[in-house]
Amino acid sequence: MTDGLPMEVSVPGLPARVRIHEVGARDGLQNEKEVVPTEVKAEFIRRLADAGLTTIEATSFVHPKWVPQLADAEDLFPRLGGLGDGVALPVLVPNERGLERALALGARRIAVFGSATETFAARNLNRTVAESLAMFEPVVARAKEDEVHVRGYLSMCFGDPWEGKVPVHQVVRVARQLMDLGCDELSLGDTIGVATPGHVLALLARLNEEGVPTSAIGVHFHDTYGQALANTFAALEHGVTTVDASAGGLGGCPYAKSATGNLATEDLVWMLHGLGIETGVDLDRLSATSAWMAGQLGRPSPSRTVRALSPKES
Ligand code: HMG
Ligand code: MG
Repeated sequence: MTDGLPMEVSVPGLPARVRIHEVGARDGLQNEKEVVPTEVKAEFIRRLADAGLTTIEATSFVHPKWVPQLADAEDLFPRLGGLGDGVALPVLVPNERGLERALALGARRIAVFGSATETFAARNLNRTVAESLAMFEPVVARAKEDEVHVRGYLSMCFGDPWEGKVPVHQVVRVARQLMDLGCDELSLGDTIGVATPGHVLALLARLNEEGVPTSAIGVHFHDTYGQALANTFAALEHGVTTVDASAGGLGGCPYAKSATGNLATEDLVWMLHGLGIETGVDLDRLSATSAWMAGQLGRPSPSRTVRALSPKES
């Protein structure tokens, strides 16, 4: 029996607070075949904010044919007013067209999304790696002019389903290029969930050597091989304080075969609170939100913590 909270035992050297970058409404839902009604998405985001999450990636301004699930971005985004000044709602933007659409609705945080590998750049963006960086250049420049915060995602940092192992130097080269465009933050994507902790530490160390400070780095682990929490712990030990996660462990990438859900936010919060690390999140409310969303999607949440905390039939 537990009271729904882990016992708190801290580890010296870990950060006192972690900012969770919640991606359930974007990364989590983008792969769902059945289109989720816009009002359900809005309710999901409102509930995530009520549970204490303060960075909630809301949607993507991509080509609607490429990600039909998020084709309602124009309808969804304006419904999210009133969540409070403390809640940031970043959106994905691949190109100038996407940026125009996002700015027209008042978005203040955007994310461009590059790839460390050529195959994923071609499949996800219809571009080479160099062409995609060229596509992002005016997007980042314009966003900076408008004082809009820019995150640069980098996918396939630890392995690629078509190209296999991805050398660290290749990842670091594209990461450096993304930062040189002017991104404020870099999110290291383990798109297919193959990373292990030593690999994470090696990449972080090389990025630091190339002048990318740990304070600008977030980690984005999918949990395909069950390594996401171990990888997160390694990143925390290195000093990372921004961790991406998806409520209930929803997710996958429509353009990366074998990608499963992201690290579940509840599993992350259970570990962080057990370590005495502040998140601002109310785990019960969050878990109830994911259970509700699982009901909307018609299948149980893959998050172990959501399942453990859900009321049992007696
Ligand atoms: P393209 O077909 O090369 O587009 O796609 P284009 O630039 O040739 O333009 C073709 C037409 O699309 C034009 O219309 C454009 O206006 C229109 P036309 O002149 O022919 O009538 N168009 C748009 N319409 C609306 N919004 C836009 C837009 N852009 C062009 N933004 C493109 C290139 C980048 C648009 C396409 O490849 C795309 O939308 N890709 C998005 C794929 C995606 O969203 N993937 C999932 C997110 S990445 C991810 O999940 C990984 C991550 O989680 C990290 C990790 O796990 O690793 C972030
Ligand atoms: Mg992802």
